[in-house]
Amino acid sequence: MSWDLVIARNDLTSHEVRQTALAPLRPGEVRLAVERFGITTVTATYALFGDSPMQFFGVFPGPDGFGRVPVWGFATVAESRSPDVAEGSRYFGYLPMSTHHTVTPEIVPGGFVDSAQQAVPHDWYRTYEIAAPDELDDRRALLHPLFPCSFTLAGYVGQQVAAGVKSVLISSASCKTAIGLADLLSKQDGVSTTGITSGAHKAFVKDLGFYDHVVAYDELGTDAVTDSAFFVDFTNSADRMRAVYQHAGARLTGTVLAGFTHPSESFAPPQLDGPEPQLYFTPAVEQQIMAEVGTDEYRARYRAAEQEFLAGTKSWLVVRNGSGPDAIAESFRTVLAGELSPSVGAVLRP
Ligand SMILES: NC(=O)c1ccc[n+]([C@@H]2O[C@H](COP(=O)([O-])OP(=O)(O)OC[C@H]3O[C@@H](n4cnc5c(N)ncnc54)[C@H](OP(=O)(O)O)[C@@H]3O)[C@@H](O)[C@H]2O)c1
Repeated sequence: MSWDLVIARNDLTSHEVRQTALAPLRPGEVRLAVERFGITTVTATYALFGDSPMQFFGVFPGPDGFGRVPVWGFATVAESRSPDVAEGSRYFGYLPMSTHHTVTPEIVPGGFVDSAQQAVPHDWYRTYEIAAPDELDDRRALLHPLFPCSFTLAGYVGQQVAAGVKSVLISSASCKTAIGLADLLSKQDGVSTTGITSGAHKAFVKDLGFYDHVVAYDELGTDAVTDSAFFVDFTNSADRMRAVYQHAGARLTGTVLAGFTHPSESFAPPQLDGPEPQLYFTPAVEQQIMAEVGTDEYRARYRAAEQEFLAGTKSWLVVRNGSGPDAIAESFRTVLAGELSPSVGAVLRP
């Protein structure tokens, strides 16, 4: 049996399951059987911006009026007409919420690129990495798409610290990408981190032990920061960002807009009285670092940091598994509504 889970573009809480026929493969094509994937706020972000200029609903086209929301996860090769990709081999990459997905592999070091996928903004999204099974795979399904952002941001913040910044303000401090960043920064000298989060998530964020200080959005003051500060925003919320700008006052040296947990109308940063926020697009930053230090060197450093982070998440992140279209739709709805506890990660199988 094969199916696609499709979401109404005008009501993201409404879904349908569409049975699909497995068309015969053309020469060069490979059919992937989706194994499992994570659903986090990044999934909600893809759906919320599905019809934006980023066109996330164009990646895996759906029937009229419906979108297929992209997810990140593992798949095995169910059928292959590519001489380079063996049946049974396993990959990690960008997938639809479906039982199957057909790709046209072009081999690259460590995996393949889907040469038929033209609707994505960067090779990052059409690259499928070879993935041997591992006991951390549920956590990897959740965090492998997010931790590159944490890892490269830690390096970027390190550069700000070298230039004199003493503290970092991180909003939506309970999101997994922010937690990865805070974990890495907690191992860097000379920088103090402040996590800014909802009142309901404050205790969780404190208990992580990665942030030096934790404040709730409604506890932010005016000119409350005493040392030069850099701001990493994961909210994209004009109101929350404005409150952080008032909190830091003239001490604020710069801002990156890295996430969209409370999205404004567009990807564009809101107008603010202070440093202009810079959009942070991890694939482009990664590419730049690889050009500077070498791809192998970057990947080796990244892999070591990710492995350590994944193992460490056992102390704060509980994986909630589910299977079938109803469980997937329910997890998506919960994440979209912000109802899933930050201490839980949803990993789904079709
Ligand atoms: N720039 C890049 O290249 C890049 C790369 C990876 C991820 N991202 C972005 O980073 C963001 C975080 O993703 P994630 O997967 O790490 O998130 P996550 O772990 O699923 O985040 C959960 C947290 O987000 C906040 N939140 C999300 N939806 C909410 C809602 N409807 N109502 C209230 N709070 C809500 C809450 O944090 P608080 O209460 O603490 O606000 C919640 O604890 C996403 O927008 C994603 O697109 C960007």
